Amino acid sequence: MRKIMVTGAFGQIGSELVPALRKKYGNENVVAIGHKSKPSEKLMEGPCDSVEVTDKKAFEGKIKEHGIDTLYHLVSILSASGEKNPGLAWNVNMNGLYNALEIGRELPLERIIMPSSIAAFGPETPRDNTPNETIQRPTTMYGVTKVAGELLGNYYFKKFGLDVRGLRFPGIISSEALPGGGTTDYAVEIYYEALKKKSYTCFLKPDTYLPMMYMPDALKAIMDLAQAPISKLKHHCDFNVNAMSFSPKEQAESIKKHIPEFMIDYKPDFRQAIADSWPKSLDDSTARREWGWKPKYDLASMTKDMLEKLAEKIK
Ligand SMILES: NC(=O)c1ccc[n+]([C@@H]2O[C@H](COP(=O)([O-])OP(=O)(O)OC[C@H]3O[C@@H](n4cnc5c(N)ncnc54)[C@H](O)[C@@H]3O)[C@@H](O)[C@H]2O)c1
Repeated sequence: MRKIMVTGAFGQIGSELVPALRKKYGNENVVAIGHKSKPSEKLMEGPCDSVEVTDKKAFEGKIKEHGIDTLYHLVSILSASGEKNPGLAWNVNMNGLYNALEIGRELPLERIIMPSSIAAFGPETPRDNTPNETIQRPTTMYGVTKVAGELLGNYYFKKFGLDVRGLRFPGIISSEALPGGGTTDYAVEIYYEALKKKSYTCFLKPDTYLPMMYMPDALKAIMDLAQAPISKLKHHCDFNVNAMSFSPKEQAESIKKHIPEFMIDYKPDFRQAIADSWPKSLDDSTARREWGWKPKYDLASMTKDMLEKLAEKIK
């Protein structure tokens, strides 16, 4: 039986990954680790704790205290927040990850799973059907830390034999927790505003295409990668995973099919430049080949499900 810790567990992905892992491994075997905020009621159905991941001694103490063998390290300062405070993004994303890997090597841990992002690419990367192996010269601090994180994870696998795995998530859309300061946050906010106000002002231009994924697929991706037989993996911390690709205009049209009076307008801000430096779509054939990745949701099925779930949540 695995004893799992999820760091960054009170964030957008952790809030849904923890319940999914608990369903599979049992409530008591999955520890949700937050930072400064309080856990939701749902997360409090199993063990919850908090830690500052840049404090290695404290981080290691929590891992030992809870008898952990598998770590999902989700802590990150995201793209838009990272551009407002690049020093914090460097410290948390790099030193937090370095601590996780060092603790993993020293104890040792059986496995560490760490998400990367499409932010690990940059303006010189081919933007359509971006290959798994290509130019990675990001222009955000978040992206710099994500490329370095991929390389560091691969280094720990090769040098120390630590089982580290990671995948490059596109923008994740979900109904449980709000996104935490990324460039794809609009794609979640738009559903809330469509239901509450029947209108939305988007911070990206109408024709900005970005790769996206609905949370049930994101959970499946990270859990499938975590369980893949290591003998099948030729890559480790750098798998492209794709599900769909759409623009704000296309997303608005999919919402209008359910809420005909919905209106959208556009006021691009600093996040437009970040979006313009990222891929429009990803070639994820490496993940499909090595561990059988296959998404379920497209834009139409996600919009239907999101609107149903949020209508229930905010009524
Ligand atoms: N959400 C997305 O669209 C998306 C897309 C691509 C990649 N990812 C990656 O997935 C992972 C999880 O993303 P998310 O969207 O859930 O992030 P999030 O911002 O919602 O959550 C991250 C959590 O980390 C915690 N944290 C911040 N600093 C900390 C510190 N010093 N010590 C301990 N905890 C700290 C925060 O409290 C927050 O709850 C990240 O690695 C992110 O880069 C997310």
